[in-house]
This record gives sequence, C-alpha cells and structure tokens, in this order.
Amino acid sequence: MKMILPIFVLSLLFSSSYAAVQDFCVGDLSAPEGPAGYSCKKPAKVTVDDFVFSGLGAAGNTSNIIKAAVTPAFSAQFPGVNGLGVSVARLDLAPGGVVPMHTHPGGSEVLIVVQGSICAGFISSANAVYFKPLKKGDIMVFPQGLLHFQINAGGGPALAFVSFSSPSPGLQILDYALFGNNLPSELVEKTTFLDDAQVKKLKGVLGGTG
Ligand SMILES: *[C@@H]1O[C@H](CO)[C@@H](O)[C@H](O)[C@H]1NC(C)=O
Repeated sequence: MKMILPIFVLSLLFSSSYAAVQDFCVGDLSAPEGPAGYSCKKPAKVTVDDFVFSGLGAAGNTSNIIKAAVTPAFSAQFPGVNGLGVSVARLDLAPGGVVPMHTHPGGSEVLIVVQGSICAGFISSANAVYFKPLKKGDIMVFPQGLLHFQINAGGGPALAFVSFSSPSPGLQILDYALFGNNLPSELVEKTTFLDDAQVKKLKGVLGGTG
C-alpha cells in the first residue's frame, strides 16, 4: 500500500499537468489555413454552433454548365471539423449533370447515394478504371488523390452525400485545370496533344483565355 499511494499521487499530478490532449481545435477562420489546418479558436469562445452545420438541407444551384452543385462542409465552412480528419459535402446532380473528372488531393471520399442513380468511377495511378452505376443506398469509396467522376445516370435529379478523410480535402477539376485558366493554348496543345481549334473551343466553354 505504501508504495502504491505515491505512484497514484504521481500519476494524478502527471495527468493534470499533462492534460494537454485537446478534445478539439475549432478553426479560427480569421487567420490563414496552413498545411495542418487552421489554428485553434480560444476554447472559451467555442460554442455548440461551431460543431453544427445546417447548410446541407437545401439543394445547391445546378444552373451551370455541369448541371451539378457541390455544397461543402469543409473546415472553411464548418470550423468544428478542423483538426479532426473528417468532413462532409452534399452533391446535387440535375438531369444530365456531371461532376467532371476531379481529385481531392487531401483525402479519400465515400459517396452515399440517397436519391436517383449515379454512374461513378475512378482511375488508379496505374490507369486502371473502376466505375459502376450506383442506386439509392449504394456507397462507393474513392481513394485519396485519384481522379474520379460522378454522372447522373437517371432521368430525374440525383442526390448524394459525400464524406472525406480530411477536414479540408480540396477539389481540383481536371477540365478547368486544363482549359479554364490562362495557360497559353500553345502549351495546352503540347501537353494534351489536342489541336489549336479544339483547345480554343474548350477554353471558350470553360472560361479560359490565351
Ligand atoms: C442559380 O445560378 C444561376 C446562374 O448563376 C442564377 O442565374 C440563378 O439566379 C441562381 N438561382 C438561385 C435560386 O440562386
């Protein structure tokens, strides 16, 4: 007993002085985001609303060229997920809608179809193709960093929710990366093997210049 008591007291001391395990690190959106996320909001200023995001109840606006809308609840919109390795988004696909080939450099994705049907797939770094039509209740996983797509495969609107293994997975759409910026057409032609007319046409459609 005599030996156990000091050890007990010692461990109590340690647990209070080393109680630095942080339950959360709600993002302080007033400072820039770094590779490790946002810095933490002072715990005294944290409220329950930092852990609740109400933006996924309404459909996103699909009146655009891809007839699709992604509504993110990433750390920039939902600071409670900062530092926790998770986030969510809503995906609306109008009839004919598509999320063109894209990647999330920062995290893997799980997609859950809740309405309609979606043809989804990804391409591995060995250029193997994995795609399948999904129906309500189906889920599909897209490994981190790989190019993938979602196409509305039904006649009506499709709805899916997606979760990520990162609070800030990022989103880069291949078509816009290639044709939606001011990289000179001549260089785009060299990197894509497309001809000048095709590149200029795609730049016109996707908002690129040069
Ligand atoms: C949806 O986006 C289009 C194109 O930007 C815009 O004209 C329209 O007003 C938006 N609709 C709603 C409901 O916000």
